[in-house]
Amino acid sequence: MNSESLKTQFKQQAQGALSLNIAYIGVTGGLFTTLHRLGAASAPALAQAAGLDAGYVVRWCDAAYAFAYLEADGDTFSLAPAGEAMRPDAPDSLMPMAVQAVLSAHMAERAAGLLQSGERPGERVLAERATLLPWFGPMLEAGFGSLFEKTICPAGPACAEVDARGWLVLDLGCGNGWYLRVLARRFTQLRGLGLDGFDENVTQARERARSEGFTERLNFEQGDIHDFTLKAPVDLIAMNRALHHVWEHDRTGIFTWLHDNLNPGGYAVIWEPAWPAERSALRDPARRALSFQNLSEYIQGNHLLQPEEIVAAFAEQGMHTQVYRFVGDNEAVIVARR
Ligand SMILES: C[S@@+](CC[C@H](N)C(=O)[O-])C[C@H]1O[C@@H](n2cnc3c(N)ncnc32)[C@H](O)[C@@H]1O
Repeated sequence: MNSESLKTQFKQQAQGALSLNIAYIGVTGGLFTTLHRLGAASAPALAQAAGLDAGYVVRWCDAAYAFAYLEADGDTFSLAPAGEAMRPDAPDSLMPMAVQAVLSAHMAERAAGLLQSGERPGERVLAERATLLPWFGPMLEAGFGSLFEKTICPAGPACAEVDARGWLVLDLGCGNGWYLRVLARRFTQLRGLGLDGFDENVTQARERARSEGFTERLNFEQGDIHDFTLKAPVDLIAMNRALHHVWEHDRTGIFTWLHDNLNPGGYAVIWEPAWPAERSALRDPARRALSFQNLSEYIQGNHLLQPEEIVAAFAEQGMHTQVYRFVGDNEAVIVARR
């Protein structure tokens, strides 16, 4: 590729990043949602309806118009199709892309600053940007909820069995609790307990469970997986994108805990992004982002796992596993039975 075409390629990529940055402001400020509700509005009227500063909103409207999120008729703006698609409650919303883009920029800046010292600050880096943490759970819910509901859940035997017996499901590292809500909608006998380290996530999880009428069946607690004690063993323990967060700290301790806190016949269901065995697989455009995720996981004290490592860790506990792969091998669900 010659230098002119490289320049063109990078200009396009830079515009893509700018576009997602502008979308992020619209998502987190509620501007797409408010304009959808209003139908059409001037920038000052939009600012007032959203409870935001008119000076910023005027500039945002120009930028969102430039990047085709908004249409303009004189000084009146309305949502273009891309703006509609960025609304967090739009079907198949593009919101996760905007949140992920700014989260990645934050992580890139942190990695750049940590290169020399080698410090790994841990989970708290997620909370360093006030506007990011509240969107972390919704980003994951919008990114993975429907994949779970439509593809992953129907493929595994564990959930239906748990429901038939009215068992309790424990979700370790539950984020905003979307996984238990999906299960509670599908399986009417199922009860759930979610644990997460961030207050923000637990507050959202409780609020969303309440608004869907699941207060009686779903509970959420703030706490550390490493210090968590159950009153009695449970029948299904799920960890979605959470195992790699605790693996480096105490792998053996976690797997012993999973074994000891399951009733005989109970299931551990672990969903993880699958780190490929060969580096060359990272060049696949569908897998590239994993390499950046692994770098930002490093900041948090984590690394992404190969499914085989998880299978081996369960085998050490005498637990048999079955591995299910989804999205062209990028997502792995490991089901282990005690
Ligand atoms: C990538 S998120 C996944 C969240 C959720 N399971 C989902 O699929 O949307 C990992 C979650 O694990 C939680 N977590 C990480 N380490 C933890 C720990 N030691 N104790 C409790 N929660 C933890 C984080 O707060 C975060 O919400």
